[in-house]
Amino acid sequence: MESPTFFFSALFSFLLLSFILFIFHPTPLSEFITLATSNNADYSVHLHPIRTKFSTHNPQLLAVNEDSTAIHRNKSRNRIPMREVGKVEEELAGARASIRSNRSLGTTAHGGGDEGYVPAGAVYRNPRLFYRSYLEMEKILKVYVYPDGDHPIVHDGPCKDIYSIEGRFLHEIEHGHGRFRTNDPNLAHVFFLPLSVAWMVKYLYTPLSYDHSPLRQFVSDYVRVISTKYPFWNRTHGADHFMLACHDWGPSTSKGNPFLYNTSIRVLCNANTSEGFKPEKDVSLPEIHLLGGEVSPKLLSPQKDNNTPRRHLAFFAGGPHGPIRPKLFQYWKNRDDDDNDNDNDIRVYEYLPKDLDYYSFMLNSKFCLCPSGYEVASPRIVESIYAECVPVILSNNYVLPFSDVLQWEAFSLKVDVSDIPRLREILSAIPEDEYLRLKEGVKIVRRHFTLNQPVKRFDVFHMILHSIWLRRLNIPVR
Ligand SMILES: *[C@@H]1O[C@H](CO)[C@@H](O)[C@H](O)[C@H]1NC(C)=O
Ligand SMILES: *[C@@H]1O[C@H](CO)[C@@H](O)[C@H](O)[C@H]1NC(C)=O
Ligand SMILES: *[C@@H]1O[C@H](CO)[C@@H](O)[C@H](O)[C@H]1NC(C)=O
Ligand SMILES: *[C@@H]1O[C@H](CO)[C@@H](O)[C@H](O)[C@H]1NC(C)=O
Ligand SMILES: *[C@@H]1O[C@H](CO)[C@@H](O)[C@H](O)[C@H]1NC(C)=O
Repeated sequence: MESPTFFFSALFSFLLLSFILFIFHPTPLSEFITLATSNNADYSVHLHPIRTKFSTHNPQLLAVNEDSTAIHRNKSRNRIPMREVGKVEEELAGARASIRSNRSLGTTAHGGGDEGYVPAGAVYRNPRLFYRSYLEMEKILKVYVYPDGDHPIVHDGPCKDIYSIEGRFLHEIEHGHGRFRTNDPNLAHVFFLPLSVAWMVKYLYTPLSYDHSPLRQFVSDYVRVISTKYPFWNRTHGADHFMLACHDWGPSTSKGNPFLYNTSIRVLCNANTSEGFKPEKDVSLPEIHLLGGEVSPKLLSPQKDNNTPRRHLAFFAGGPHGPIRPKLFQYWKNRDDDDNDNDNDIRVYEYLPKDLDYYSFMLNSKFCLCPSGYEVASPRIVESIYAECVPVILSNNYVLPFSDVLQWEAFSLKVDVSDIPRLREILSAIPEDEYLRLKEGVKIVRRHFTLNQPVKRFDVFHMILHSIWLRRLNIPVR
């Protein structure tokens, strides 16, 4: 009578153990890493296998494994159904395998025109891998947006002016067509904390106090609430969670919770590697200046002016913010008088005189200077791309947006800050065909920086999501 019971309990234990081993078997991510090349260190984003889920190399995630087996036995309200954890991880493993494989792609899934866009050419690091990864994202990715917290600081954000991308992304993911959103957190691949740092600054910060602690306190409280109420944060210590902020103080605010800062995916305009931005887990967010909530109509169709040659070699106008611009002014401010009549004029203004038009200058310049200001990101980069003016990046420690898939060298120039005195020499030495190649590149990447309502495939909303997706997948696509 005893042996069948023993047999069945032994069988049961064996099956349970196999199941656990099956689900938590570490993914051999090192295989994917060899796909990466490490050229162009300045623009590169090096992904590395720190984000391996349920891998036994990571002590934090080892604890997760133990928790999960405990959860399996515990019938408490917050348990995570193991079936679902397995399904989500299985989907991701399938996506990795598919990206890695060289199966032919079903390109007929989408119609012609914008719908059927297929990335190609030198502006992409590896167009084929990017396309595969993008298609897998469209097929699989589900984001869970925490419903907790109140307006305006949670579930809202600015949709105008310099930090508009904060509000635009938030509104799109919460109220857009919903393709990537799930209301069932058990099916989610990533979890979004829908906070707005710009609104925290507006509602919680005491002007001139230079005290960020109320902002950090808010973030800390928010993480405490969601990690107590739901099991998902603790499962990975926030590694599959993301926040998004364009405000300069996004990085500082994220210090409110050490795991948010060190482990979660932080999507930030202020992508300064000297201030803790980690390209392998964080995402660089483009800053898009929407005066009055819209892109200037002048920038909507720059092609109109295509036949008239651009009059100015380079243009910049703005305030003397941050460490780089004073140097630009020192060498180039008000130098237009010397060369008014030749092709080599560099127009640099400390604030543009009221009678001159900012966007007309961009549309009439071959190169647009994009120096960092108080923080690394500059809205001029996206404005230049809209104006089909080749951006000249003047910054240090800035990780450019989408640089895990875009080859910035194919549509922009990076000039070392120490070379500012030689700007005219450097820019005028660029041969016409090289300039035209860069300008063509700018035209191609424009779609990736464009805000659409409703959103369109491959636009800025999808590119941001794709950056998040890549970090969750933890594979480089170059
Ligand atoms: C199950 O969870 C509850 C509440 O989290 C805890 O008090 C209890 O000890 C757990 N039981 C087991 C068997 O782990
Ligand atoms: C994948 O296929 C393309 C063409 O279909 C080919 O050029 C390329 O070399 C293949 N790559 C690998 C890794 O097999
Ligand atoms: C997550 O961990 C924190 C800190 O250890 C704990 O207070 C909280 O109750 C945990 N959450 C859940 C859902 O068990
Ligand atoms: C991030 O992790 C490091 C190393 O563990 C730690 O010293 C630091 O305080 C953490 N950062 C924050 C903001 O908590
Ligand atoms: C980037 O961070 C470093 C270190 O804090 C700082 O010195 C530098 O000014 C920052 N860059 C910009 C443009 O703010």
